[in-house]
Formats: sequence, C-alpha cells, structure tokens
Amino acid sequence: QTGMFTYDPGFLSTASCQSSITYIDGDKGELLYRGYPIEQLATHCDYLDTCHLLLNGELPNAQERTEFHKLVTNHTMVNEQMQFFLRGFRRDAHPMAILTGLVGAMSAFYHDSTDINNPEHRHVAAIRLIAKMPTLVAMAYKYKIGQPYIYPKNSLSYAGNFLRMMFGTPCEEYEVNPVLERALDRIFILHADHEQNASTSTVRLCASSGTNPFAAIAAGVACLWGPAHGGANEACLNMLEDIQAQGGVSKVGEFMEKVKDKNSGVKLMGFGHRVYKNYDPRAKLMQETCNEVLVELGLENDPLFKLAKELEKIALEDDYFVQRKLYPNVDFYSGIVQRAIGIPVNLFTGIFALARTVGWIAQLNEMIGDPEYKIGRPRQLFTGSERRDVKPLA
Ligand code: SDX
Repeated sequence: QTGMFTYDPGFLSTASCQSSITYIDGDKGELLYRGYPIEQLATHCDYLDTCHLLLNGELPNAQERTEFHKLVTNHTMVNEQMQFFLRGFRRDAHPMAILTGLVGAMSAFYHDSTDINNPEHRHVAAIRLIAKMPTLVAMAYKYKIGQPYIYPKNSLSYAGNFLRMMFGTPCEEYEVNPVLERALDRIFILHADHEQNASTSTVRLCASSGTNPFAAIAAGVACLWGPAHGGANEACLNMLEDIQAQGGVSKVGEFMEKVKDKNSGVKLMGFGHRVYKNYDPRAKLMQETCNEVLVELGLENDPLFKLAKELEKIALEDDYFVQRKLYPNVDFYSGIVQRAIGIPVNLFTGIFALARTVGWIAQLNEMIGDPEYKIGRPRQLFTGSERRDVKPLA
C-alpha cells in the first residue's frame, strides 16, 4: 500500500524503486504526471509548464510560470567551444552518436554544476540541460547538412526557438508556424517522462555512483537510441516506407504474416509495450496531432499516414495482436508527424531525448534527494562453471 495505490506482492518483487513522479496503469491505458492525466497536460499546458511540474511536483502559478520560462530561455546558448567539439565528428555520423557525445561533453564545460550531491548544482545542471538540448540537437542537424548554426532567439517559445534553430538560415527571417509549434510542444509533453523505462533506469543507476548530472543524462541518451526503445519511431517510419515502397496497403497482409512468423524476427515497430496492455494514451494524442499537422500542411492524403491507419486497423482486428494485447505506442505516429514537420528520420530519437531530458532529471533528483539512496548494485543468478584449477599448458 503506497498512498492511494495498492500493489500485489508479485509486482513488488519486480519494482526497482518507489517514485511519486509518473504513474502508468497499463491495463487501463492511463498515464499521469504528478497526478495530472497526460490528456489534460497536452491540452491545457505547454512543455515548460510540464517541466516545472515534473521537477517541482506542481504546475507553476502565473508568476512561477513567467520566472521559469525566463530562466530556461536565458540559458539556451551553449559554450562557443562546443562548435569545435562538433567538428571532430564525420558529417555522416548518426545524430544520436553526436548527441551522446555533446551531452557528455557538457561535463567538460559547466564545472559549477557537476556535483550531483549538491542540490544547487543539480538545479543549475537541470536548467542548462533543459535549455540547451534543443540548441544541441539543432546544432547536430545543421552540422550534418553543412549549414551554419542558428543561435537561439529569446523572444520565441521553447518549441518555436527549436524550429527556428533547425530550419532557419541567416539568409532570411524564419516565420514560426503556430500549428507546427504547438504540435512540437505537444510531442515534447508526450515524451517527457514514463516512469522506470530502460533509459530512465539507466540514468538512475549511472547517477547512483555519484557521477555528474551531464554524464548520467548522456547515459540515458545512449540507452534511448536503441530501436526497442526510443529508436522505435525511426524504425517505425523506416518500416512504413519499406511497405510503401513494396506496394503500400496492398502489401500489408503479406507484411503482417511475416510479423506473426516468429522466425522472421520482424516486429510491427511502434506497436506493443512492456507495460501498456491497452492503448498507449500518448498514441491517441499523437495520432490527433499528426492529423492536425497533415491538414495544416495540406498533406491529409499522406500515403504513410493512410498506411499506418490501415496497419493499426488490421492489427486491432487480428487475433495474434489481440491475444498479445499489442496496441500502438507513442512511437507509432510520432515519426509521421515529425517527418511532416520536416525533421529527418534519423533525428526522431534526438527529439525524444530532448523531451525526455526533464523526466530523466526529475527521476535522478528524486533518487539523489532520498537520504537512504545508495549506489545501485543489481545481483545475478550464477549459471557458469564450478570452482576449478588452472592446468599447466602442457
Ligand atoms: C518506448 O518502457 C517504456 O516506457 C518505453 C517508452 C517510454 O516512454 O520510455 O514507452 C518508449 O520504448 C515504446 C516502445 C517502443 N518500441 C517499439 O515500438 C518496438 C516494437 N515493440 C516491441 O519490440 C515490444 O513490444 C517491446 C520491446 C516494446 C515490448 O516487448 P515485450 O516486453 O516482449 O512485449 P510483450 O511481453 O508484451 O510481448 C508479448 C508478445 C511476445 O510474443 P510471444 O513470445 O508471447 O509469442 O508479443 C510479441 C512478443 O514477441 N510482440 C510483438 C511486438 N511486441 C511484442 N510482436 C510483433 N510486433 C511487436 N511490436
């Protein structure tokens, strides 16, 4: 019994920690950040409000909101030296390889916020990370396409600033499209936290050694990159493009047979979840956002969106998926909407990492803030050789 929640003993043996940040009910398809349903946050709040909620436990009042927005906005520039660090990468490097390096490299620049056991250092590191992730992701993109970096513009919103750093150039003023700005801000909210997923558990375990906050977040970036986790949105879009290239909707049946054949190793990317055995509430919101953006851009007949909806329809009627309680997850539609916004496929996971940074920090703070915490040390069931002696080589 923890507060209003009761858990059966079997579940407790799988729990890695106690937390008061994010609550998921996989059977009901419910997701709450500090008690607020994700549907209400995605409708009534913006991403920085959600950051304030995750970090401090409460949505900001009007004055707190103004102060927090100002604090983050005034820390969006990165140290100029980081440009030289970027130059060490090949231009064809995967953006997640670059981002893992850049976030880790922040440990080399911001020495006044590296003591993870100092609450003030953690606060400064948190603001720097939340403020600078959009700048770093945009710099990685500009570096890869050979365009000049665009400095942040403090008069813009968090999402608007990111869009301008990504797609603006020094040659002309960049007009932020409010529909795209709102869609991106909602994508950030939907990805902000998700209790003890693989990358968050990585951040907690890494931080428990007392390393600096930037190194712990860099570990989370590296873990999120995997296609079974945050890399699924990139893998899902590649899957849709492959099916489209082979003939589109007419080929869906054949593809689904491959997915159901265990030996094929083919998975329906963007489907299934370790916790949700019902619809991922983020997937519904993502589909709505996708629709809004496609209509705004006159792409409502986007073949990939039609293909995704057909795949979802078939899967939700197919026993293989119904029996296994496989539903679309957050990654199923997020790739289509990001592609429509103009974000390259290999940067989708970078957007996920940008948005999840606040969740990783909130979870790290919760662990470090508990006076009882110790370095993580998972144990094993040993299944190897019994004790034996080395024999002379002869
Ligand atoms: C994220 O943990 C989080 O919270 C993560 C995340 C977050 O916000 O941090 O929500 C973000 O990572 C979402 C998930 C993104 N990944 C994908 O979309 C990749 C495709 N999905 C699968 O790889 C899979 O569903 C997992 C990894 C997400 C979950 O895998 P599990 O735990 O094995 O799923 P399961 O136990 O529910 O599987 C039950 C059955 C198994 O078959 P059987 O052995 O029972 O015959 O369903 C099968 C699985 O093989 N299955 C799938 C499938 N997902 C599970 N079969 C085909 N396609 C799929 N996508």
